Amino acid sequence: MTRPAADLSSRNPDWWRQAVIYQVYPRSFADADGDGLGDLRGITARLGHLATLGVDALWLSPFYPSELADGGYDVADHRDVDPRLGTLEDFDAMVAEAHRLGLKVVVDLVPNHTSHQHAWFQEALAAGPGSAARERYVFRPGKGAHGELPPTDWQSVFGGSAWQRVADGEWYLHLFASQQPDLNWDSEEVREDFRTTLRFWSDRGVDGFRVDVAHGLAKDLTDPLRDLGNLGATGEDALLSVAPGSHPYWDRDAVHEIYRDWRRVFDTYSPPRTAVAEAWVPDARRALYARPDELGQAFDFGYLVTRWDAAELRRVITGSLATAHAAGASATWVLSNHDVVRHASRLVLPPGTDENAWLLSGGRAPAIDRDAGLRRARAATLLMLALPGSAYLYQGEELGLPEVADLPTEVLQDPIWEQTGHVRKGRDGCRVPLPWTPGGPSYGFGSGGAWLPQPESFAAYAVEAQSGVEGSTLELYRTALRLRRKLLEGETLTWTPQVLDGVLDFTRTPGWRCVANCSGAPVPLPPGEVLLASSPLPGTEVLPPDTVVWVA
Ligand code: NOJ
Repeated sequence: MTRPAADLSSRNPDWWRQAVIYQVYPRSFADADGDGLGDLRGITARLGHLATLGVDALWLSPFYPSELADGGYDVADHRDVDPRLGTLEDFDAMVAEAHRLGLKVVVDLVPNHTSHQHAWFQEALAAGPGSAARERYVFRPGKGAHGELPPTDWQSVFGGSAWQRVADGEWYLHLFASQQPDLNWDSEEVREDFRTTLRFWSDRGVDGFRVDVAHGLAKDLTDPLRDLGNLGATGEDALLSVAPGSHPYWDRDAVHEIYRDWRRVFDTYSPPRTAVAEAWVPDARRALYARPDELGQAFDFGYLVTRWDAAELRRVITGSLATAHAAGASATWVLSNHDVVRHASRLVLPPGTDENAWLLSGGRAPAIDRDAGLRRARAATLLMLALPGSAYLYQGEELGLPEVADLPTEVLQDPIWEQTGHVRKGRDGCRVPLPWTPGGPSYGFGSGGAWLPQPESFAAYAVEAQSGVEGSTLELYRTALRLRRKLLEGETLTWTPQVLDGVLDFTRTPGWRCVANCSGAPVPLPPGEVLLASSPLPGTEVLPPDTVVWVA
């Protein structure tokens, strides 16, 4: 399918199909009030960076009131701003400034659970067993002679049982942290409340939504609840071993009714509001979330989890394009986000490395070569930006930031660390506040400190240190995004037949060919004008390893 998707003007309903969307993790982006925590006014003040970078939209991770038991994904009120991050007026000012700069705004929606501090959950605790207030969540009596055992063997994604007992003896379900009770989507009140939330932010000018845990909302809550047994608790792998739709809580068919309902809300706006599902499910099932009468797009993490290997990358790219197009969606490409090891480090971890063990070793076992990591990251980015579909960037990747793997355990904030009994270190290493200037308190993040310590090495990665510097990672991103915008056309690519092993080679348009050398040895540079190279080329003959070029 070929669509004219390069038109990113504000009224084009297809603006998202090939957009570049920049993820802002609000608490780590920029801190205007100097309390060490990033905030909305900080973001507004730095929107110029995104406009200069050349992205089309920003996606904000949660900025709602939250005690930060899970970095803001524990939402106490879905229709307000955390007072530490600002006010609704600050939000409006941010949206207005983004729109003035030609940037769309996407917000994170967290419908699977609330914070335990949410008024509904507090009401449920006070109202007691059998109450209507408990019906909005998943409360059940326990098993065992005295109800002392959890109702089922369901496991939290963050480790341990997914059930927590309350003072009156009932248990509630939390598929993530115990401070994140799961909502009951069989409740019409819950459904109506989220319609209200969608309208609330859409009316404030928000252009789209990123839907957290989109595959988890519909649960089989028929009593008695089913144990998982050997079905597998979490993740895509578990789902591959069961009949589609048969897991008690992941990826059930009933979830799609919810999104068809939301689509009716999105379509009351002009242009229609967009959405992207975060759904860790097998490819064919993921496409269902992206259907035009549902969310429109679903994150594809296939590219993110693939090694720097030409054959594997080609298989993943071909599969992702086919799956997205069959659903009428455009493909999505991601290399980094707030949940994974930054790709400037991840891509040079030897195949098979246990990332958690590596983090626990402080990034020392195995030691990685930072320059090699950055080189490969830049190549993977240039390849990604040549692919048809939209690309989601994560703040700091345009600076080439590596994972901060050596955060001391006493500063860790991710609930994974505590909830696994200090077995998994968690995701803080990719959430360290951004460096804007090579010096100053918190490298320009704010006038105070930073809520996670920044390493001294951040000085060299600062925006100011790279801006205008030829060959810097920031300038590479800027040039790539500018060129991409100019060259963008259609949503297809044509693979070049018979290429050398270890090489990816395709043409997007007659004037835009992308060649990636994923092998360990130099290969011939393709003929034509080099538009951009991910790393300096030694001459006109050779494309070195771990390098990508765009040629006309
Ligand atoms: C996915 C989010 O990306 C992650 O950060 C969060 O912990 C879980 N969903 C739970 O909301």
